[in-house]
Amino acid sequence: MKPCAESCERNQQPILDVLAEEFAATKKVLEIGSGTGQHAAFFAPQMRHLVWQTSDLSEDHADIRCWIEDVEDISLPAPLDLDVRSELWPDTGADAVFSANTAHIMHWDMVCAMVAGVGRLFASMDRGRFCLYGPFNEKRKFTTASNRKFDAWLKKRDPLMGLRDLAEMEKIAGEAGLALCRSHTMPANNLLLVFDKVETTHAR
Ligand SMILES: C[S@@+](CC[C@H](N)C(=O)[O-])C[C@H]1O[C@@H](n2cnc3c(N)ncnc32)[C@H](O)[C@@H]1O
Repeated sequence: MKPCAESCERNQQPILDVLAEEFAATKKVLEIGSGTGQHAAFFAPQMRHLVWQTSDLSEDHADIRCWIEDVEDISLPAPLDLDVRSELWPDTGADAVFSANTAHIMHWDMVCAMVAGVGRLFASMDRGRFCLYGPFNEKRKFTTASNRKFDAWLKKRDPLMGLRDLAEMEKIAGEAGLALCRSHTMPANNLLLVFDKVETTHAR
């Protein structure tokens, strides 16, 4: 039986509604931390103008394969082995990156590595867009009681997990050559953050 994350069932349509616009001009998306692969299986058939490339740590690949091999009409590429901490990321040619519910699971050094890696991915490109979905704090405060409870639950599981602050995310994104251009308010106290590659002016 395919593994099923109930949260994906709930959030996939609202996320798709935003991504369909944000990725309207995108050719290839690299998804980081694809988890069960449910998001990929739901999004890819509904955004046929782009290629959806899943990735995660290798232990999750069997789950991802179960979901993406069941997608009808289109064939999705096999998941890539990507630990954001690795210096060398696979060369995908992706002009966009998506990641859901990873920033509060990854330790802070991994979050920094993820954002820096996305910046490196876009370095040789004219444009690049990074959409990051999940719960975040604002001005170092929880935005809701349920987010505070979720953070406490995460920290019980692993003290280095937890909700990240929006300003801290913007700071590390800036260091990676990315700027926060939109923050979409999503159901259940989540945000979908859109970071774009900062345009560089080339000296003549
Ligand atoms: C809560 S799950 C989210 C899965 C899926 N994106 C979703 O929204 O349901 C967090 C994911 O982050 C992945 N992850 C954790 N550490 C990672 C790392 N160092 N590099 C890449 N992915 C990592 C986990 O394997 C897991 O699939």
